[in-house]
Amino acid sequence: MKQPVRVTVTGAAGQICYSLLFRIASGEMLGNDQPVILNLLEITPALKVCEAVAMELNDCAFPLVKDIVVTDDPAVAFKDSQIGLMVGAKPRGPGMERKDLIADNGKIFSSLGKVINEVADKNIKICVVGNPANTNAFILAANAPSINQRNITALTRLDHNRALYQLAEKSGSDIAEIKKMIIWGNHSVTQVPDIAFATVAGDAAADKVDAAWAKDDFMPTVAKRGAAVIAARGSSSAASAANAVLDHMRDWCLGSESGDWVSMAVPSDGSYGVEKGLIYSYPVVCKDGDYEIVQGLEVSDFIKGKMDESEQELKEEREAVADLF
Ligand code: NAD
Ligand code: LMR
Repeated sequence: MKQPVRVTVTGAAGQICYSLLFRIASGEMLGNDQPVILNLLEITPALKVCEAVAMELNDCAFPLVKDIVVTDDPAVAFKDSQIGLMVGAKPRGPGMERKDLIADNGKIFSSLGKVINEVADKNIKICVVGNPANTNAFILAANAPSINQRNITALTRLDHNRALYQLAEKSGSDIAEIKKMIIWGNHSVTQVPDIAFATVAGDAAADKVDAAWAKDDFMPTVAKRGAAVIAARGSSSAASAANAVLDHMRDWCLGSESGDWVSMAVPSDGSYGVEKGLIYSYPVVCKDGDYEIVQGLEVSDFIKGKMDESEQELKEEREAVADLF
């Protein structure tokens, strides 16, 4: 029997976690032979609901769950934690952009970053979900200098999955036949969904769909899908977000599919001219519990221009929260 992995999930009484936690507990994130200890962090007023979630987790009798800790103390929640799923944050409502949340949510990530810096495993793998996710991850990283900075990432896998669906639908193909999708940049409306290197059943995706569709339909549809869900549902995506968190962490821990790429927002190492340290979404390959940014892609001037706009937005978001690091 493997040693349990300690997984901390913040915002555990919220919408995303009501889907996420049960799937982690069933083994969908770390494998069905990997026991877990679930540390659930909430703010004090939400503790009662969080305890109810823990009751339901217990009532599922998941064999992989070795313990559940419900707490409003971040130092307890992150003590020796090996995986941090940073969901707890305010969601946006209709008419808002994700960066409008920065003043409220940024503070959460500076204070949790400081705690993680003190008490978590130094190699904790972090996925920031709370919006604006890339900049919140930047804030967390800046406040947690003792943590392996490479391991502080943000979620763009939901955008990646949305892009897969749109291309499959348009090209009349099966999602499993699509490889090498890319989301570049910020998890915001400036993100750059890119099919230039994607293949559909081994053929170039660009030969299956026309260029005007890719530019005028596919790219804005994917970039604005979060807002479209909010408009339709009255609240932001939850089950699809939870699914993307599982995909992100599962591939990172257990490896991504051979011959394919996934999108993760990771600290830039300067690849593709993006300023070092910004949390920027790249195509990556995951192996042996680590990821590598796909190198050497010849990006068109059009895509590079969009990538630069997204980088610029990240710099502006960083500027707006300069007091938090
Ligand atoms: P929600 O309001 O249902 O749940 C958020 C929970 O976080 C609440 O229970 C709240 O009490 C808790 N919380 C607030 N501050 C906290 C803190 N300091 N510590 C611990 N918990 C805290 O919201 P949700 O629908 O679950 O969404 C959560 C976040 O995820 C939002 O910011 C949303 O915009 C974001 N999101 C991101 C993506 C993505 O792809 N990156 C996708 C969907 C949603
Ligand atoms: C999403 O992409 O669905 C989330 O980031 C929620 C939002 O505010 O759009």
